[in-house]
Amino acid sequence: MTIGESNNYEYSSKFPLARLNFSDKEKFGSSAVIDLTERLYKYLKSLKDEMNRITNVKARMTKYDMHKTSEDFKLLSEMAMHYARSLTKTKYDLYTVDCWGAVYGKGDWTVEHNHVPHFWSWVYYVRASEGCSPIVFTEANLTIQPKDYDLIIFPSWIRHEVPKSESSGKRIVIAGNINTRHS
Ligand SMILES: [Fe+2]
Repeated sequence: MTIGESNNYEYSSKFPLARLNFSDKEKFGSSAVIDLTERLYKYLKSLKDEMNRITNVKARMTKYDMHKTSEDFKLLSEMAMHYARSLTKTKYDLYTVDCWGAVYGKGDWTVEHNHVPHFWSWVYYVRASEGCSPIVFTEANLTIQPKDYDLIIFPSWIRHEVPKSESSGKRIVIAGNINTRHS
């Protein structure tokens, strides 16, 4: 699952990424993540755009503070943070800075960007229909075709983009930024 490990603030790999998939309820001991994903899907499938495509995400999008306003987004953020913590040995606490959802339809895309100054960033695929756009980590020359229930965790400085969707299949994501707390 993990490519590279980190030690304090040093990464042993140039592009440390982790990819986990939560579809296997036997492996994870319960269907809690699957149930959570269904609730998030119901919330997002009929989302009205709240950001007017002014951000890097040229798709329907929520506000950035969903972990503060939705128990389910908060739960997912905590899950992502749990795995992010296992990727770093920093003595500092980690906390969620931002959490948002996005729903891509045909022709939607995301501009190449990174999430500096944050520490870890992540994206969870509530739905990744066949033929939907991948996530492309441009500097790492790495393209990942997502699957339902995939969680990808990456250092916030890695640039990435989502090419224009050619498919009308659903691509529903929740993403977040994690930082270290120094006081
Ligand atoms: Fe991003």
